[in-house]
This record gives sequence, structure tokens and C-alpha cells, in this order.
Amino acid sequence: MLLGIDLDPESLRVAQRTLDPFGERALLVEADFRDLKRVAKEHLSRPVDGILLDLGVSFLQLDRPERGFSFLRDGPLDMRFSPRQKLTAADLVNRLSQEELASLLKRCGQEPKARSIARAITLHRPIESTRELAGIVAQVVGRRRRLHPATKTFLALRITVNDELTALEEALPQAVEILAVGGRLAVISFHSLEDRIVKEFMQRESRDCLCPPEVPVCRCGHRRSLQVIAKKPIRPTPEEVERNPRSRSGRLRIAARLQSVD
Ligand SMILES: C[S@@+](CC[C@H](N)C(=O)[O-])C[C@H]1O[C@@H](n2cnc3c(N)ncnc32)[C@H](O)[C@@H]1O
Repeated sequence: MLLGIDLDPESLRVAQRTLDPFGERALLVEADFRDLKRVAKEHLSRPVDGILLDLGVSFLQLDRPERGFSFLRDGPLDMRFSPRQKLTAADLVNRLSQEELASLLKRCGQEPKARSIARAITLHRPIESTRELAGIVAQVVGRRRRLHPATKTFLALRITVNDELTALEEALPQAVEILAVGGRLAVISFHSLEDRIVKEFMQRESRDCLCPPEVPVCRCGHRRSLQVIAKKPIRPTPEEVERNPRSRSGRLRIAARLQSVD
């Protein structure tokens, strides 16, 4: 039995067509993976054997200009995974203060020119479309060797619109809770901020005591719940990247649920 969760009803419709041959063994639910535990409890009668979090944005979303994810295609500044959500990228771009924008671009996009981009954005407001924004950013950033000049700005806005890092932080402990002993948790992330959250979570959950080194006797009582399966993240092979260039930044981390020690 497969339980698939996505915030995007359009992605679910496409997945439903692919999974139709499996009938009732594939169940797709429009939900936020922040609610993983509740959704799993509602639809499944026993602990799960495997969880795969395939994070971020999909081809389907990137390739539809009207979703506003792509700086290569002109569309509204939207970037929401869920149409039920109110906040869009246009709200951030046109309403935040220059300081708030600069901090968002630095924090969520690791953009070295965050301050200059934020200043240019506030000078050109209101900004309505993805092309308009990409053009303004490109003027500030100039050419970059490997990346389009607007890549980091668009990433920062998308992460913020969908509150992606918090969602991941909230989903990971729930994933461990609903896994059966020996079950696998696999996470594919596509940028370093996400990967760091996954790596640190798996490292923390594979240690017994989390007290600082100066504490002589454990006070936290933390017991490990995971065993890391692959110490280093698994990267796509050059052949995979050639076949599917968008896989190039993917990193897969895997851990197994341990027998409860209590
Ligand atoms: C990389 S794509 C997954 C693609 C999918 N595995 C496939 O093969 O088509 C990531 C998906 O996660 C969804 N998503 C992102 N954050 C989410 C969240 N907090 N809860 C549920 N779905 C989310 C996005 O809408 C997007 O469809």
C-alpha cells in the first residue's frame, strides 16, 4: 500500500493517472507533510515500512509559467505549492521592507548580493512577473559562471512562500514516529539548507545522549531512534545527470528505524 501526500492537487492528478493500475493499493491525499502523522493515522492501520520525502519543486510546477516558479518563463509571481494558501511571492516582493528582503535572500538563498538586490527590488516596485523580477536581479548580479543570476533569489522566495525549511523540520520527527522498526526513512533534498537539516536530524537521532560534553552524567535521557544507512549522501551518477540534468543537485540520505530501547 502506498500513501502519497502532496500540497499540489495538480501534481496529485498526474500521479493518480500513473498509479491508476494499482487501484486501492495507491492512495493519494492532498495534505501538508507537516501533518504526516495525522494523515498516516487516518489512512493506515499499521506502522509504515518506508517513507520517501522528495523535497522541493517538481518539473510539472517549474514548467508551468502560470505557477510562477521559473525565471526562464514569464508568469505571475506566485510560487505556491498549494492553491489554498494565501501568501504568494508577489506579496513578499512588493510588501516586505528592504531589510526584510535582504535578510530573506541571504538566509534562504545564500545570495551574496542580497542587499543590492533588495535595494533594486524596492526601487522597481510594484513587480508583477517572473521575467520582470529576473531582469532586475540579473542587472544587479551580472553573469555567473554556472548559475542563472536569479537562481538564488527565486529559491529564497520559493522557500519562504512555502515555509519549506520549517515544514521539513516538523515532518522528520513525525516520520520516525510512524515508521515500523527496521523501516527506512529516505530523503532527497536539492539544496544545502535542506540537506543540512536532514543530515543533522539523522545524526542527532542516531545518538543516545545529546547532553553537552561538559555534563558528566546524561541528563537528557535521549535514546537513539535511527541508524544512518549511508554515511555520505548518495549523489546522482554522471549518466543520470546527463539523462536528467535537474537531478544534478539531488542528495539522498537514508536511515533505518531502530528497535525501541525502552
Ligand atoms: C520534487 S517534487 C516531487 C516529485 C514527485 N516525486 C514525482 O516524481 O512527480 C516535490 C513535491 O513536493 C510537494 N511539496 C513540497 N512541500 C510540501 C509539503 N510541505 N507538504 C506536501 N507536499 C509538499 C510539491 O508540491 C512537489 O510536488
